[in-house]
Amino acid sequence: MADPDIKEAVREKYGESALKVLAGERGSCGPNEGGCCDPVSDNLYDAAEKAGLPAAAVLASLGCGNPTALAELRAGETVLDLGSGGGIDVLLSAKRVGPTGKAYGLDMTDEMLTLARTNQQAAGVTNVEFLKGEIENIPLPPSSVDVIISNCVINLSSDKRRVLAEAFRVLRPGGRFAVSDVVVRGEVPAEVRRSMELWVGCIAGALEEAEYRRFLSEAGFADVDVEPTRIYAFEDARAVLAGAGLDADALARDVGGRVMSAFVRARKPAA
Ligand SMILES: C[S@@+](CC[C@H](N)C(=O)[O-])C[C@H]1O[C@@H](n2cnc3c(N)ncnc32)[C@H](O)[C@@H]1O
Repeated sequence: MADPDIKEAVREKYGESALKVLAGERGSCGPNEGGCCDPVSDNLYDAAEKAGLPAAAVLASLGCGNPTALAELRAGETVLDLGSGGGIDVLLSAKRVGPTGKAYGLDMTDEMLTLARTNQQAAGVTNVEFLKGEIENIPLPPSSVDVIISNCVINLSSDKRRVLAEAFRVLRPGGRFAVSDVVVRGEVPAEVRRSMELWVGCIAGALEEAEYRRFLSEAGFADVDVEPTRIYAFEDARAVLAGAGLDADALARDVGGRVMSAFVRARKPAA
């Protein structure tokens, strides 16, 4: 699939999702309106985390993990969230790094940026900045960030090597890459890979686990680790495939157990 087609489809889908949340509904990320994200995006945050956030930031959550809970953020650090959506992980990061730290969110979709900035205002936090741009061309200088987080976004890019090279560039020496993403183990049927609906819903573009490790190492990262956080079984796979107009029963047998949410971490070597 051509890069401009993918990017436009992603922008359109997530723009619609942001508008829904701005109208008071829950956001969605795939073909089954309101339901497809459920096995992937439900129950990622605990009650204490959600209690301190504006309702719309929680409604907008379309991630596949909880990167700030796993990233061990420290007071005073600068964090960058690639594809920040409605801003849930940026707001959680801002709390963890405190007033001496800073949390940036980066997103290419105008409606998502409007939603995120509305949520920032509602949360009353000042150590946050939402930037417009693409994760393939991060609008920050080299060596300016301590930690890169991201939640279910890198799989949406058709140029993942470039995203990882950009992440490496903006991290300070010793900086951490701590990302939740959809990852596959082994081969996924070609029909699934070709489906734009499934690409936009975070499944078709997912990297194979070994490839993810290799791309990170080739970008210069050390201490690469891919840790599964949820593995999707037959029923989960069927729920997602059904809405994409594919033969869900047959394909789910091949896909079930091979698609997972994972916490992907790595480190930029110290100078
Ligand atoms: C699946 S949503 C996840 C949003 C957020 N991380 C969360 O956990 O709720 C994907 C987000 O990434 C953004 N996005 C996708 N591809 C992007 C790209 N190449 N550059 C910048 N933002 C992108 C979309 O606009 C959308 O807001």
